[in-house]
Amino acid sequence: MKRVIPYSHQLLKETIQPGDIVVDATMGNGHDTLLLSELVGETGFVYSFDIQKEALAATKARLDAHQQPPRTLILDSHARLEAYLKPEHAHNIKAAIFNLGYLPGSDKSIITTPDSTITAVKTLIHHLTVDGIIILVVYHGHPGGDVERDHLTAYLSQLDQKSFDVLRYGFINQQNHPPFILAIKKKPRK
Ligand SMILES: C[S@@+](CC[C@H](N)C(=O)[O-])C[C@H]1O[C@@H](n2cnc3c(N)ncnc32)[C@H](O)[C@@H]1O
Repeated sequence: MKRVIPYSHQLLKETIQPGDIVVDATMGNGHDTLLLSELVGETGFVYSFDIQKEALAATKARLDAHQQPPRTLILDSHARLEAYLKPEHAHNIKAAIFNLGYLPGSDKSIITTPDSTITAVKTLIHHLTVDGIIILVVYHGHPGGDVERDHLTAYLSQLDQKSFDVLRYGFINQQNHPPFILAIKKKPRK
């Protein structure tokens, strides 16, 4: 069975086409930004957010090492996506990914929080194309992770099923709070 991170990447690969507009909401060391960059190609556009300078440096180095074009790496909260979105990209976001929690090997007190995560998800939902997808890899073993998990799950559970599919994917027999995926896909209007 597909592990959680490979499954999040499978969902991105199934959704994204060259030329698409996509968002990495939690850049970290840039693994997801690199995949997004490869999938959208020269003609696509990647917005990547993180609140730590080190994340931008690590991501830029990773993109350069893989001969990727420069991408839009933003030192700010994903909650402020609306302020950075180009007018021509409005209502045209094809995919977004979050890895919640803290950056492994870094300051464990710098974590994603329910308010900013849900604000960013709401903005992304507003700008998502039909058949576009938002993926959240939810880590919830650290202090505060359980609160974020519960707020997010409560918010996503009430999205209208006529407009959105909301998926939860994860293993239920693993020890130590295994991460799981929440994914939101916008359905075509009937
Ligand atoms: C689990 S790590 C992401 C790992 C990343 N996807 C990678 O490939 O390495 C979570 C990241 O979210 C960042 N973060 C926390 N709050 C944020 C916010 N409000 N906006 C954007 N990034 C945030 C942290 O600084 C951290 O780098």
